[in-house]
Amino acid sequence: MLSLIVAMDKNNLIGYDNQIPWSIPEDLSLFKEITSNGILIMGRRTFESIGRPLPNRVNVILTKNKNFRHDGIFTFNTPDGALNFANQISKKDNKKIFIIGGSFIYNIFLPLIDEIHLSIIEGDFKGNIFFPTIDFSKYSILKSKHYNGFQYLHLIKNTCNC
Ligand SMILES: NC(=O)c1ccc[n+]([C@@H]2O[C@H](COP(=O)([O-])OP(=O)(O)OC[C@H]3O[C@@H](n4cnc5c(N)ncnc54)[C@H](OP(=O)(O)O)[C@@H]3O)[C@@H](O)[C@H]2O)c1
Repeated sequence: MLSLIVAMDKNNLIGYDNQIPWSIPEDLSLFKEITSNGILIMGRRTFESIGRPLPNRVNVILTKNKNFRHDGIFTFNTPDGALNFANQISKKDNKKIFIIGGSFIYNIFLPLIDEIHLSIIEGDFKGNIFFPTIDFSKYSILKSKHYNGFQYLHLIKNTCNC
């Protein structure tokens, strides 16, 4: 099972330069609650925007830079390398794998994703980094909950096209 978690506005906006365009503490709490004890796969730019490994989670960073090092993270130079490593840990330690962005990394993994934790942020924001277009007909809504400032949807990929 491969999960993806993202917060985006109605125009699929997810980032402004190397930051999140909004500040919504409740969405950050939800992110922490959903991903705790899991394995996170993220791009090098997202890791640098967070600035540190996220605690209580295995932090897997994708970069083409073979010399990229930081305490508390596992670095891979290919998506397959990162995913194989994450799958091994997931099986061994019974942990969930989350693709957490940014746009490069969402684009790579979206075809493989089984479930999406989606926060749709209310309001208009300035930004320049976008989530790829999702074909919502391929997903069913398992849960929908309104929070202050955003709508959370838990989406599961349909297993057949019938
Ligand atoms: N709203 C949300 O839920 C959310 C979530 C995450 C991020 N964000 C935002 O998204 C923005 C960052 O996203 P981004 O798209 O600019 O960057 P990103 O996807 O986080 O990272 C891109 C980097 O990943 C590495 N990479 C990409 N493809 C690779 C491949 N095939 N093999 C190996 N490494 C590869 C490269 O690192 P190197 O350049 O080191 O080679 C590339 O520069 C920020 O604004 C962040 O705040 C928002």
